[in-house]
Amino acid sequence: MRKNVHKSGLSGLALFALAACSDNFNTADASNNAAVVAGEPLYQKYCASCHGKNLEGQANWKTTKMDGTLPAPPHDDSGHTWHHPDKLNFNYTKNGGAANAPKGFKSGMPPFKESMTDSEIWATLSFIKSRWSLKAQARQARMNKTP
Ligand code: HEC
Repeated sequence: MRKNVHKSGLSGLALFALAACSDNFNTADASNNAAVVAGEPLYQKYCASCHGKNLEGQANWKTTKMDGTLPAPPHDDSGHTWHHPDKLNFNYTKNGGAANAPKGFKSGMPPFKESMTDSEIWATLSFIKSRWSLKAQARQARMNKTP
C-alpha cells in the first residue's frame, strides 16, 4: 500500500490511510477521531459478542450465573466501565478479569493480550469512551487524575 501511495501521489485519502496505519494509540481518547474510527470494528470483532453490539451488555448483568460468573456488563453509561480509570480498563482488557478481580471472584472476562496489540486495545477503549455521555466522560476524566 505504501508503494502505491508514493506512485499515485499523496491524495487526502492515502494520507489518511497512512496516518491510520502508523498510529500508535496509548491512551483512551474519545476526541481522537482516528482512534475512535479504528476502535469501532475492533470492538465489534472482539467485544460485541459479550458486551453487546451497542454496548448494552448482557441481560441481568448484575446477577451471577449458574457457573459462578457474571454476565458481561454494558460499556455505555448504564454500566460501570466509566467508573474506572483508563489504566484499569486497559489492564482488565489486556490481562483479563482473573488477573485483576479480587481473589475468589470467578471472572468471565477473557484476556486479550494474545489477540490484540496495546494500541488496538487503546483504540477500542477510545471508541467505548466516545459512546459515553459528556457528563460521564467528565466524571471519568476527574477520576483518571487520581492514581
Ligand atoms: C466472553 C465474553 C466477553 C468478551 C468477549 C469480552 N468481555 Fe469484557 N467482561 C466480560 C464479563 C463477564 C465481565 C464482568 C467482570 C468479570 O467477569 O471479570 C467483563 C468486564 C469487563 C471490564 C471491566 C468491567 C467494566 O465494565 O469496566 C472491561 C473494561 C471489559 N470487560 C472490557 C472488554 C473489552 C474492551 C472487550 C473486547 C476487547 C471485552 N471486554 C470482551 C465478558 C467479556
